[in-house]
Amino acid sequence: MRRWSEGQHAGRQGLAFGADYNPEQWPVEVRREDVRLMAQAGVNLVSVGIFSWSLLEPEPDRFDFGWLDDVLDDLHAAGVDVSLATATASEPAWLAQRWPEALRVDAAGRRVVFGSRQSWCPSSPVYRERSLKLVEALATRYAEHPALRLWHVSNELGCHNPHCYCDVSAESFRRWLSGRYGDVEALNAAWATAFWSQHYTSFEQVQAPGSTSTFKNPTQVLDFARFSSDELLGQHLAEKEVLRRITPDVPVTTNFMIGSQLNPLDYGRWALEQDVVSNDHYLIHGAYDDPRGELAYSADLTRGVADGQPWLLMEHSTSAVNWQPVNIAKPAGQMLQDSLSHVARGADGVCFFQWRQSAGGAEQWHSAMVPHAGEDSERFREVVELGALLDRLGELRGSTVTHDVAILVDWQNAWAMGGETLPSDRVRHADLALRIHGVLRAAHLGADVVPVGAHPGDLATVLSRYRVLVVPTLYLCDDATAAAVRAAAEAGTHVLVTYLSGIVDGNLRVRLGGYPGAFRDLLGVRVEEFHPLADGVACELDDGTVGDLWTEIATAADDVEVLASYAEGATAGCPALTRRDLPSGASAWYLGTSVDDEALERVLREVCAAAGARPVAAAQGPVDLVRRRAADGRSWLFALNHGEEPATVQTRGVDLVSGQDVDGLDLEPGASAVVREG
Ligand code: GAL
Repeated sequence: MRRWSEGQHAGRQGLAFGADYNPEQWPVEVRREDVRLMAQAGVNLVSVGIFSWSLLEPEPDRFDFGWLDDVLDDLHAAGVDVSLATATASEPAWLAQRWPEALRVDAAGRRVVFGSRQSWCPSSPVYRERSLKLVEALATRYAEHPALRLWHVSNELGCHNPHCYCDVSAESFRRWLSGRYGDVEALNAAWATAFWSQHYTSFEQVQAPGSTSTFKNPTQVLDFARFSSDELLGQHLAEKEVLRRITPDVPVTTNFMIGSQLNPLDYGRWALEQDVVSNDHYLIHGAYDDPRGELAYSADLTRGVADGQPWLLMEHSTSAVNWQPVNIAKPAGQMLQDSLSHVARGADGVCFFQWRQSAGGAEQWHSAMVPHAGEDSERFREVVELGALLDRLGELRGSTVTHDVAILVDWQNAWAMGGETLPSDRVRHADLALRIHGVLRAAHLGADVVPVGAHPGDLATVLSRYRVLVVPTLYLCDDATAAAVRAAAEAGTHVLVTYLSGIVDGNLRVRLGGYPGAFRDLLGVRVEEFHPLADGVACELDDGTVGDLWTEIATAADDVEVLASYAEGATAGCPALTRRDLPSGASAWYLGTSVDDEALERVLREVCAAAGARPVAAAQGPVDLVRRRAADGRSWLFALNHGEEPATVQTRGVDLVSGQDVDGLDLEPGASAVVREG
């Protein structure tokens, strides 16, 4: 994997700064204005052509590149680099009309109609063939264009078409299954088909898990999710192969949608195929208590996906989006602080959707760098201010971030925990991982977020680098992951495992003999029965804290210290929080119930203290702290006050936001600093 900051950005001082640029929506006069305003804002990178297929190829095999030639020439003349899209994200009307079978079918068997975007079936041979012809034509046309800096494959693959249930997809699913299992008896064993008379005698009998009369086979559903992720990756790789052949030196990316919910593509595994990791992130109001905490988590996870290397923020919003029930606009200053939160966490570029706010179409009410009001607007003035700041921050390009604490997450586990028939549908992998991240951030400790899939073969090495490893609700834990966690503990990493972790293997088979099968020996805890709690029901512990959501009947081995037990109900007397000292000098902790943030912070602080994990810097107040370090020893401390109280931070150096020398920081609510330390 290359870093975004390497090579691609040659000759520039600042960080990458720009947007999706959709000039085809505007007359030529507006495009001239665009180039002038981009220069004013310091824009140096734009993604062009993302939704332009119908204009670039108005009918099969007739290409019209004239307008795009002009756009690229003008951008280059203005010093703006281009991330050129392969334009395959949204198929043209002629394709849907002539080959309706290339449109996707939903789980209920309904084929979508043309008139939106990304309506194609990921397994469609026609779509594959037509899209690759377009990619070939584009790559050939622009191979030598001096503005071309990066290829942008498709757009958010799988955003609207993650799964297709048509016959062609089902056939492809069967091929994938046959590749995975070899013979159908292996599939029968993996899917536990002795249950409910689901035994297969040939792969030909297997269906995509569409509409069924009641609960589906959970492993079939999980395999279909794996297949669907692989199928879209196949499209990405097919486009990439064409680009690599024609322009071997131009890096290729595709914009991920990494958010805390871990859907629907396994980006841990996808990242292994990327030249540059890029991500899109939007604040989701209503879904989270702290949407900006979710931003921080997602940015840390994006760095985890990028194996710790700098990445590119391909899209976020200057203000409101248009796809939530109420689209909250950003108050003055928030756009800058949110951008810095991404940069703090490893982004070496900050781009937006989109450059100029559309006048028509489904995204006319989505904010942009140039709003409907035009350049004479606070929003555009903020954009100009951000551009100037990102230019000054160019010195930290290529620097990296690491924390003492890692949180282990897994896309496939999140899919498994989304199943229909688990002990409680209230327990979701992403929820607890996000809460733990938020508590560590508030405690100024911070955390890296490490996805299982990004480290095939060397997960143990990666995990062993941390003082503390948190394993939150890792229900699905395959043998390799379980071994990697154990190996890290044996190498001296202190491990905290929470409830509902290590329960089933990669095929969703229960690890028998007492839960949590994958970690029972490590933790010295054996759970006999789960007692999930109904909404609003709590269970007191004997240390005064209160559990909710989850309790269990458990016992602890003799060498395990029981730090808290359930004090009431069916689980009274059973251990709820335990610690065991390991021969490596590390400790293995188990938290068997869900506790509030205050109690969670106490537990995390105790584990961190045992492990000698250090805060990012000494500070008081609601300040988000992240340090980026360069290989030559330079470092930059990001301090973002996202709270409602003032904050203080111990640091010395030059604040690149204000340009002032600082010796200790006093940050008012909403204020941000980036201190070059020393
Ligand atoms: C992204 C997408 C963009 C735009 C944006 C709006 O998911 O890639 O094209 O639709 O959302 O928030």
